[in-house]
Amino acid sequence: MSSDIVIGLQWGDEGKGKIVDLLAQKADYVVRYHGGNNAGHTVVLGDKKFFFRLIPSGIFHKKACAIIANGVVLDPEVLISEMDILEKEGVNLKRKLIISPRCHLILPYHKELDIAYENARGRKKLGTTKRGIGPAYSDKVSYNGIRIYDLLDWQHFTEIFTFQAKIKNKILKTFGVKPINIKDALVRLKRYRTRILPYIQDTFPLLNKAITDKKQILFEGAHGIMLDLDWSPYPFATGSNTIIGGVNTGSGFPLKSIGGVIGVIKAFTSRVGEGPLPTELNGRLADAIRERGGEYGTTTGRPRRIGWLDLEAVKFACTINNVSEIVITKLDILSGLIDLKVCTGYRLNGKNISYSQCGYNELANVSSVYKVFSGWKEDISNIRSFAKLPKECKVYLKFIEKFLDVKIKFVSVGAERNANVKV
Ligand code: IMP
Repeated sequence: MSSDIVIGLQWGDEGKGKIVDLLAQKADYVVRYHGGNNAGHTVVLGDKKFFFRLIPSGIFHKKACAIIANGVVLDPEVLISEMDILEKEGVNLKRKLIISPRCHLILPYHKELDIAYENARGRKKLGTTKRGIGPAYSDKVSYNGIRIYDLLDWQHFTEIFTFQAKIKNKILKTFGVKPINIKDALVRLKRYRTRILPYIQDTFPLLNKAITDKKQILFEGAHGIMLDLDWSPYPFATGSNTIIGGVNTGSGFPLKSIGGVIGVIKAFTSRVGEGPLPTELNGRLADAIRERGGEYGTTTGRPRRIGWLDLEAVKFACTINNVSEIVITKLDILSGLIDLKVCTGYRLNGKNISYSQCGYNELANVSSVYKVFSGWKEDISNIRSFAKLPKECKVYLKFIEKFLDVKIKFVSVGAERNANVKV
């Protein structure tokens, strides 16, 4: 590893947290570069489970320094709650956390607006995480955003926050929603400011120097490629670019300096929120996979929708990101199925259609072409070598590798750090 990136190749929740945590063992820097606390990653350390939404999951390693780079939208309240957890675990944050002054803030009115829009959409809601992500990014694009940088000068911050909050309160009123209390919000924000100030540092020169010094950098992608703002079936998207281009815009890191692109794929599909999902399963099978896999949102607790592995979509994700290796997670969850399917293409009106040709209408109406595999009965969660995996399991993995034409780095068969099989 020199400077690698880990990204999810589906609809998020592919199990990237564990993979980043694993790969971060050698990293000098672990960097988040887009999204906000709509992401959620779980790291299991011994008998303890940690949920992070914002701070990169590699932070538990002695060497790794966590960077929150400019592309992230940052909710200060969430940041501080995660800092509290880490400090309780004895992590010396002063040495380990750096936040770019260019990050835009998620402010109380962003969350209220997110909720108000979702409620107003009614049956046509998008299923956002209601964390204020879209409204914060839209303020950034319309020059109405407020950055960490603005926190440096409290007087200035107070002025621009009050200006924005008054306008947002008018919008909230049109939704019939109670406006935010500007005075109370400022009291809270001042407290957060004091806590955050020591961690603010320009991350661009830091990352550039890291390249020169040949440091190991790991970029931690959030969400999944199918939620990319431009490449999703919009508007069923998240507010940021989840494809690797986001590394450059979200941290200033030159794309040519990226070494490996490690794509994480869950052995089946899951999705939270609304929007088309071509391989979606309903009924008892979906329920069984959801329960076995603990497929409930880390951030919102919502039950995730479940489907067969959609290789048509994943192949697109591999191509657009130039994925060099893949990691397959949660393979153990599929044990015990009589047979399993993977989607190898879509058909619409009697013709083949690719993922990239589909808007949400097409994607909602395609029929998936499936290849059916025999399942395996054995519990594979304690297996650590490819040779010992059931024959059917090996066939499933080798098919995925061949179809995507990308090498499998390893397969994860459990939540623990070491529950992996090298392929
Ligand atoms: P937002 O990002 O909260 O605006 O939500 C937009 C869509 O992205 C919704 O369907 C969310 O459920 C989905 N989403 C955002 N982040 C994640 C994630 O990390 N995992 C899975 N789904 C996500």
